[in-house]
Amino acid sequence: MEKVRFVLVGAGRAGMVHGRNLTGYIPEAELVAIVDIDESRARQSAEEAGVKKYSTSLDDILKKEDVDAVCIGSLTFTHREIIEKAARAGKHVFSEKPLAQTPEEAKKIKEIVDQTGIKFQIGFMRRYDPAIRKAYQMVQDGIIGDLVVIKSTGRGPGLPPAWIWDRSKSGGMLAEVSAHDIDSVLWFTGKKPERIYMEAKNFKSPQASEKFPDFYDHYIVTIPFQDGPLGSIDGGCPVGYAYDGRMEILGTKGMIRIGTTEGNGPVLMTLDKKAICDTHDAWRNRFKEGYLEEMKSFIRCIQKDEKPEPSVIDGFRAVQVVEYAHRSIKQQKPINFDGEW
Ligand SMILES: NC(=O)c1ccc[n+]([C@@H]2O[C@H](COP(=O)([O-])OP(=O)(O)OC[C@H]3O[C@@H](n4cnc5c(N)ncnc54)[C@H](O)[C@@H]3O)[C@@H](O)[C@H]2O)c1
Repeated sequence: MEKVRFVLVGAGRAGMVHGRNLTGYIPEAELVAIVDIDESRARQSAEEAGVKKYSTSLDDILKKEDVDAVCIGSLTFTHREIIEKAARAGKHVFSEKPLAQTPEEAKKIKEIVDQTGIKFQIGFMRRYDPAIRKAYQMVQDGIIGDLVVIKSTGRGPGLPPAWIWDRSKSGGMLAEVSAHDIDSVLWFTGKKPERIYMEAKNFKSPQASEKFPDFYDHYIVTIPFQDGPLGSIDGGCPVGYAYDGRMEILGTKGMIRIGTTEGNGPVLMTLDKKAICDTHDAWRNRFKEGYLEEMKSFIRCIQKDEKPEPSVIDGFRAVQVVEYAHRSIKQQKPINFDGEW
């Protein structure tokens, strides 16, 4: 297959990161069409990306156009239906995270992917970030010995849009903001959680609590792993100061730190002994290489008939962790993990 022909479904913030990569930076890909339920967004995005076809209906594009793969950047609660449609039509699927808003929906997706045998990749782009990949290899090579503690911090500068406040649509702030942190911790440990414990509070967003009383904007999740290390995830937004994504991996023979809050620009040292620099402003800039590399890898897997990573199981597992963490808030205690893995 010379070029992998894509249709992009959902041309918003995340979708257009992929749209721009597919049209501008990946010669092995062709973006044939853009679908969005908002017609003006579909049209404007198609114009911006130089894509000839746009529609409000995926069915329409699947009927009329010859495509190999569907890239999904629509809202979380729409993923299952779109994945099902694409998979039943024999199209490979790249889907944004979280896989789904509930473990039930995530399980259905896993079954559809297994039944149809399509290639499926979930958008955990941090696995393609050069520093995170290098650290992962160091851990695999035993450079820091046995793992002791893995910490992942994910904080966003602004409050996400209102649909995310509704757990039935998004899986909640933990799923939306920290699905990547959950996946990173699971990936590095390669183990099953023993227990999951979450504490959460709403510090800055009373307007969200008015509509959704179970809303929280900051949280800490603790996960001891079976025969493995201790995992810790903290996250939240709006923090204002930066897009802050960092990891720390402690082993018996050393420690690895990944990421900084400071951006890549210059640091100004002043005579009053201050260091001044820009911070990372947004996820799409901090993980720019990750977004590009994850898509290139998906395309290579289609062309070479290999299994894409991270897989539908990785997406499913992250959704399971969110579900147990939310149970833990409700019951105000750690919950033993006895879920499907
Ligand atoms: N990987 C990442 O770092 C990352 C970052 C942001 C968002 N996301 C994920 O991407 C998804 C979209 O989030 P966003 O912030 O880009 O949202 P967004 O609101 O910016 O964009 C979503 C787009 O999907 C369209 N849409 C909604 N339902 C649709 C449907 N049924 N069919 C076609 N189009 C539909 C909307 O009109 C909108 O244009 C979410 O699942 C989110 O969690 C991932």
